[in-house]
Amino acid sequence: MADRIETQVLRVRNIYDDMEPLQKAAEILAGGGLVAFPTETVYGLGANALDEKAVAGIFKAKGRPQDNPLIVHVCDLDMIGPLVTEIPEAALRLAGAFWPGPLTMIFPKSGAVPQVTSGGLPTVAIRFPAHMVARELIRRADVPIAAPSANLSGSPSPTTAEHCIHDLMGRVDAIVDSGSCGVGVESTVVSLVGEMPRVLRPGGVTVEQLREVLGEVEVDPAVCAPLAEGKAAASPGMKYKHYAPRAHVVILEGGRQAFAKYVNARAGDGIYAMCFEEDVPGLSVPSVSYGGEGDDASQAVRLFAVLRQMDELGAKTVYAHCPARTGVGLAVYNRLLRAAAFEVVRL
Ligand code: TXA
Ligand code: MG
Repeated sequence: MADRIETQVLRVRNIYDDMEPLQKAAEILAGGGLVAFPTETVYGLGANALDEKAVAGIFKAKGRPQDNPLIVHVCDLDMIGPLVTEIPEAALRLAGAFWPGPLTMIFPKSGAVPQVTSGGLPTVAIRFPAHMVARELIRRADVPIAAPSANLSGSPSPTTAEHCIHDLMGRVDAIVDSGSCGVGVESTVVSLVGEMPRVLRPGGVTVEQLREVLGEVEVDPAVCAPLAEGKAAASPGMKYKHYAPRAHVVILEGGRQAFAKYVNARAGDGIYAMCFEEDVPGLSVPSVSYGGEGDDASQAVRLFAVLRQMDELGAKTVYAHCPARTGVGLAVYNRLLRAAAFEVVRL
């Protein structure tokens, strides 16, 4: 692992009452350091996106593969101009509808964005987050901030400062603690460099919402299926094992009764159910609910924390009840599929 460094935990409840720790975090970023900070989706691990050395530190701290590009976070639209060579009309419409918010757009990049930030790609991913602490931090640092999710590479994304502390203590300069994240799954990644807008990763802004604004929008086949062998990933992040607890996760697709019957028949040491609230009464194995059935927003908020909880409980095998693939549920399904290494049983 990287040499251990001292990590400060800076509590920022809001940007008005905790200006001092916020300013400290901004100065660390401006000085080339690494700071984990909250966004409305998940916590990010930030560094100055234009500082190659600082960005290289992110990859080292997370153990992230070098070819997996980072999202560059801005706090206003004026910050984008120098980072890209072109802003397509569709991007302006999406920005008007969903920024600030859980949407990331891919643009052709300018020479100002280092190769290490874009994972060697000719494009750059940009996001304007809604979280006030994130925005104020970027504004004070006064540089665009590259930030992947603030977890160790491969682990479930962090939705609380405790998750960041668990993964990154001793590896980063500071962790800004602002409580838990409101959306719970990462931003939607949309590429605007091809002929048709294309969703590379579903997230907080739904495909349905994107279609309302743009009309036709493609969803990359890798969103719901393993990458075909020999095919290059449109979004390099999709080719890695991801979001996975140590436990073996299996997704079960079917109704409440079929789910209970299948899981109860397998009761035993280390067997857990990760289910909907409504499933709990019918189960004879230990279970943790990750939200209400059909309540995609609550499932998204709880998903990653419950995946982490499964390891704390010592689960060996986790049977997860498959969510609906509509709304934010598509993002929940996409993350769960990767946590389960695509193991799905249709009941
Ligand atoms: O909500 C989020 O997006 C969070 C918060 C911190 O903003 N960030 C996040 O970053 O989820 P990360 O690095 O965990 O995921 C970024 C995803 C990866 O799948 C990556 O491959 C993809 O976006 N990506 C980044 N730049 C890209 C590019 N130029 N072209 C295609 N995909 C890109
Ligand atoms: Mg991530």
